[in-house]
Amino acid sequence: MTKDLLLALAYIVASVLFIASLRGLSSQETARRGNIYGMVGMALAMLATLLHPDVAAYWAIVPAIAAGAIVGVVLAVRVAMTAMPELVALLHSFVGAAAVLVGFASYLGGHHGESGILRAEIYIDVLIGAITFTGSIVAFLKLRGTLGGRPLLLPARHVLNLALLGVCVALAVPFGSEPGATGVLYLGVMTAVASVLGVHLVMAIGGADMPVVVSLLNSYSGWTASAAGFMLNNDLLIVTGALVGSSGAILSYIMCRAMNRSIVNVVFGGFGTQAGAAAPAPSGGDTPGELQEIDVAGTVAELLAARSVVVVPGYGMAVARAQHAVRDLTQLLRDRGIEVRFAIHPVAGRLPGHMNVLLAEANIPYDIVLEMDEINDDLPDTDVCLVVGANDIVNPAAKTDTTSTIYGMPVLEVWESKRTIMNKRSRAAGYAGIDNPLYYHERTRMLFGDARGVMEELVTAIRAGG
Ligand code: TAP
Repeated sequence: MTKDLLLALAYIVASVLFIASLRGLSSQETARRGNIYGMVGMALAMLATLLHPDVAAYWAIVPAIAAGAIVGVVLAVRVAMTAMPELVALLHSFVGAAAVLVGFASYLGGHHGESGILRAEIYIDVLIGAITFTGSIVAFLKLRGTLGGRPLLLPARHVLNLALLGVCVALAVPFGSEPGATGVLYLGVMTAVASVLGVHLVMAIGGADMPVVVSLLNSYSGWTASAAGFMLNNDLLIVTGALVGSSGAILSYIMCRAMNRSIVNVVFGGFGTQAGAAAPAPSGGDTPGELQEIDVAGTVAELLAARSVVVVPGYGMAVARAQHAVRDLTQLLRDRGIEVRFAIHPVAGRLPGHMNVLLAEANIPYDIVLEMDEINDDLPDTDVCLVVGANDIVNPAAKTDTTSTIYGMPVLEVWESKRTIMNKRSRAAGYAGIDNPLYYHERTRMLFGDARGVMEELVTAIRAGG
């Protein structure tokens, strides 16, 4: 077999492994296997590429891979689950920067005299790469809190975006017709304009929408890689880029649908200005009921008297790392013959699948973890809904208050259950920064305190005999 045939074969196997990896990641039971497929596929792809006869500069490649591997391992070990979106944003910026550099290298490496198609590929690759690079840096800084979450809403910002994009498209004409040194000048100017466009596009989006933006940038980075694949004549890069591009686009769509928003509304809406704000006093015509508190002993009594319990985990459970105590509580209740199930909202927490990952980490059985659509109809027959550090995803205003920013977002209708016990530390708002009338509902009891501490106290109290 020739080397080329072997390389093609390795690329096909790697592509199949990447597809199997995505398939595996789509469900909790198979996620671990999916990850392994992805790792094996990537190792194979890298090995096959390194053994390609055209690859010679090992003295540069090996130290670069070693340095990248060290940085990657340190970051992966250190990063907190809740900081994952900012790490992903930073990684996307690397993809964007790499695409720009590879595009310039391809052009300057002598390919600029070749076909117009190649020049078009270089141009598209550098254009998307530059937008992805600067857009991802801004998303990273916003998620970290270095830049404020407020959207930068310049007057006529849509016109400005269109004008910047128009300049990028217009520069393609002289770039395409004038190869050589002048061409690189046009490429450079376009890169600068596209970089400004990337900054402006993401600056105009509120902090609350950053996870959707990160997912969109993930998609862009995939398309950039795909464009680079065409440019470098590398089939595997085309396939991998298309997989990342389309899965990122699908994920953005799913996240938007779960928040009842359109992509256009996220990208141009300027939503999410008040993230993290304290909940304002309830307003509107309805007089809210009294906020009623419950203590640990009262909660234990409610839980032990129940036949069915539904736990709704949210961002607060993740921050408090309360999932292990929640698992112990679940086990104790199940040992007493009480049915315990988990209700997962598609955008609970701060990243897709956030709650599923935490529950899996705590070894909570998959078969009692249900999606919102599977469990909402059962909530009226549920004795106790225990909400652990969730807020927006159980906010009735999404169904009743047409003026609310989350109006129309599907939510877990916990207030339909016979008793809702809501654990959080204070009356503060959730991510959307809006009031939650659930606090004041007649069947709601507020169990204030840090999720982990409170769950551990519940476990201790039940173990001690309830
Ligand atoms: P949130 O609405 O953010 O509410 C979390 C609540 O947890 C807060 O109100 C907070 O109240 C409480 N909390 C924080 N630390 C706690 C602790 N140590 N112990 C107990 N409680 C604690 O979370 P959610 O209900 O999961 O909703 C997710 C939000 O993020 C939605 O608005 C969603 O649209 C948005 N979002 C999610 C995603 C994805 S993909 N998941 C993407 C984009 C946006 P206290 O401060 O009073 O404790």
